[in-house]
Formats: sequence, C-alpha cells, structure tokens
Amino acid sequence: MNIDTSGKIPNNVDLAGDRALQRALEHWQPGFLGWWGEMGPEGSPAHEIYLRTAVSVERDGWAHFDFVRMPDYRWGIFLAPATPGRVIHFGEHKGEPAWQEVPGEYRSMLRRIIVTQGDTEPASVEQQRRLGLTCPSLYDLRNLFQVNVEEGRHLWAMVYLLHRHFGRDGREEAEALLERRSGNQDNPRLLGAFNEATPDWLSFFMFTFFTDRDGKFQLSALAESGFDPLARTTRFMLTEEAHHMFVGITGVGRILQRTAEVMAQQKTDDPARLRTLGVIDLPTMQRYLNFHFSVTLDLFGSDNSSNAATYYTTGLKGRFEEGGIDDDHQLKDRAYPVIDVEGGIIVEREVPALKALNENLRDDYIKDTVAGVERWNRVLQKAGVDFRLGVPHKAFNRRIGSFAGVRVSPEGRVVSEAEWQANVRSWLPSLEDRAFVQSLMGRVTEPGKFANWIAPPERGINGKPVDFEYVRFN
Ligand SMILES: [Fe+2]
Ligand SMILES: [Fe+2]
Repeated sequence: MNIDTSGKIPNNVDLAGDRALQRALEHWQPGFLGWWGEMGPEGSPAHEIYLRTAVSVERDGWAHFDFVRMPDYRWGIFLAPATPGRVIHFGEHKGEPAWQEVPGEYRSMLRRIIVTQGDTEPASVEQQRRLGLTCPSLYDLRNLFQVNVEEGRHLWAMVYLLHRHFGRDGREEAEALLERRSGNQDNPRLLGAFNEATPDWLSFFMFTFFTDRDGKFQLSALAESGFDPLARTTRFMLTEEAHHMFVGITGVGRILQRTAEVMAQQKTDDPARLRTLGVIDLPTMQRYLNFHFSVTLDLFGSDNSSNAATYYTTGLKGRFEEGGIDDDHQLKDRAYPVIDVEGGIIVEREVPALKALNENLRDDYIKDTVAGVERWNRVLQKAGVDFRLGVPHKAFNRRIGSFAGVRVSPEGRVVSEAEWQANVRSWLPSLEDRAFVQSLMGRVTEPGKFANWIAPPERGINGKPVDFEYVRFN
C-alpha cells in the first residue's frame, strides 16, 4: 500500500489520483487548523513535544517519534490494508461482497454513523484543552498532547469518508464538525458525555479509561462494517486508541499507588487526613469512577433500539468481535436479556436480540472495564491496602434507556428521590470533592519530577527514560 507523505495531507488513499477530493480536503484543512488554534490545547502552539506520528499502517513501525510543534503535526489519512475478497459477514447481506461505495439505500444512516463517531473526536480535544496548564509532569503532558493530536487524526479519518463518499452533504457535515462545541448551549456536541467538562487530571485519566474505551467498542463494531472503507479506517484508529486507554489505566493506577504509599507511611485511611497530606482518598476515587462509568454507559444508547437492529441487519455496524461469535450472525430468532424496573425492583427479561444490540455492546464493554478495575485493585492489594474499587450497577445514574429517571443505588437497588438525595454525596463526586481535586492541580514541568498526588510511571515513552524532557517549552 503506497504511503504518500509528500503532499499537504499524508495518506495511503491515493489522494493525488483524485484531484477534486484532494482540493476539497485541502480546502477543509485550514478550517481544521483554525479550529485547532481556537479549541486545541491552550497555550501550547510553540511547545516542541516528543510525539508519535502515524506514517504507515504496518503492524510494526507504523509510528514515527520525534519532536514536533502541534500545529505542524502531520495529520494524515490512513486506512488499514484491504482484505482481498472481503465479504459482509453479518446481517441480511451476509455473504455478499463488502461495499466499496456507499449503498444508496443506506446512505443517510451511514452518514449519521460516521458523523456521530466523528463528532466525538474534536469534542474530547475541546474538553481537555486547559489540562496542559496543570500537568503533573512532562511525561503526562506529553501523553495528553499525544491523545489530543490523535483525536485530531481520528477526525481526519471520518472527514475523509464524508468527503470521499458523501458529496455535498458530506462536505457540509465536515464543516459542522468544526462548528459544534463541547458544552455549548446553542451548538453542543452530539453525545452527552462529550459535553461534560474534563476539569482536572483525575477526570482526564478516568475519561481515557472509560470513555476512550467506549471508543474502542464503537470502533470495533464499525470495524466489522460491510462498508469496507469504514471498516478499514476504524481498524487503524484502534491501534491509536490502545494508547489512550493505556494513559487512563496507568494514570489512575499511579494515583492509587501514590495514595496507598501515603496510607501505609502514615498508617491511616482517614479521607480527611489523606487530603491534608495532598493525596486523593480512595472513596473519592470510587465516586469519580462511578460518575465516569455511568456517564459512559449512556453512550451506548437505549437498551431497546430499533436503530441498533437496523444498523446490524443492514450490515453497517456489527457486534464486538463479530467474527469470533459462534451463531448465525443474523440473530433472527434470538433473545437477549435486558434489565428493567417492575414494581420498584430491577428485573431481567428477554427481548429480541436484534433490538438489544446496544445492550449487548454495553455488556461487552462492562466486562472489559471490570478487568481494568481489577488491575487497579491489584495495585491496592500489592500496597497492602484493604480497600477495593468496583463498578456500580449498570442501572446507576443513567440518563438514557429504561433507567432514565429511575433512582438506583450503586448496588442496584431502586431508591426513592429522598434516599438518593441523602446519599448522592457518597455515590458521586460532590462539589467539595471536585474543589479538592482541583486544589491539587499545580503545574510540574521539571523533567523527572511528579506532582505529589501521583506516582511516576514504571517506564518512559518509546524506550526513553522517565526523566526525559518530553516537552520543550518555547
Ligand atoms: Fe478517537
Ligand atoms: Fe481516543
């Protein structure tokens, strides 16, 4: 597969061979850079950062590491290699050749899927744009910027599909992706979790653990798509997504490690005392976890969804690791268990599997998440701390689906509004919790130094030492 890095837009999609498309994307590029300047990481344009840039789609050596100013980052368009003779492997078109062009009857649905995915990419950059001002170390600052530039590249990936396959309305959607703003009243981002603030680094690490992991599952489902360009684009995006989740799991793990160290040194588990010692107490960690977990579960959509059924039946969006599932890949007479409230208690009932595909993906996500939380618990266990983190019940704090408007405790008990209000401060981060975490956010920029509330990582990036100067301030 030919990589062209000579033009304005690095790519392996032969842009030079399609002048009209190349011109359209080169026309969109200044708008993107303008958006980056306005909504990208604040105060950062002159910094030189040790970043990886995608330069190919080979399994080894796809990334190049070097110092780069972010406005000069080479955002490129890369599709994973085509699989010769690929066929659609689920839904009513199962067995037919994968589509290389958009099937006319599915055009608007497919555009909706791509726009919804595309919208999350710039949204997270907007949410994280002020975090660089309070970085706990150069190592972490570099990781933040790495995540940010790659979310920018993911936006490019979706915009390429819109420009290449959807004509005029695709170009209009690509413009709109630069116009919506996370948290804006009049023109917000499309999905709830992407309009929440990411005001501190604990939120950032939780976000990259929970919400970038939602990204992994959505991208995995799209990587099964019968629309081959979408499958190939998302497959390559997944290679970058892995690092984002690494930032989250290790970031939270390092906070836990630091807290556990101080708990052992001072022989205390008193949150108030630990706070005066400048570390984040474990009940606060649990409340942040509860918040990010529940808000992210909503991203999977309604548990009873005819849209999800249609996306699957038409072959546009598969299940997580569809190919590895042993069934008919059409789900015609299958059932799937979902939960609901009946007479004040949570009950399970079977619904047609096709309509429960959002719930199915959500359950796959929860399994993956629980495994990650267990890795955090091993950090606590190793440090000799008895406290264990856990994910709340999936009906807890939900705004979408059959639990919207139902108050459910983290253990999965339906509670009254009064009981909710009496306990919510121990279930979700309070304003005081948030203010405390905010109070810890300083700015540490000396190579090899780390803020007091977080342990150093085990190793540096790309074989560099932990005290490497990952960011040079200019
Ligand atoms: Fe992304
Ligand atoms: Fe991501």
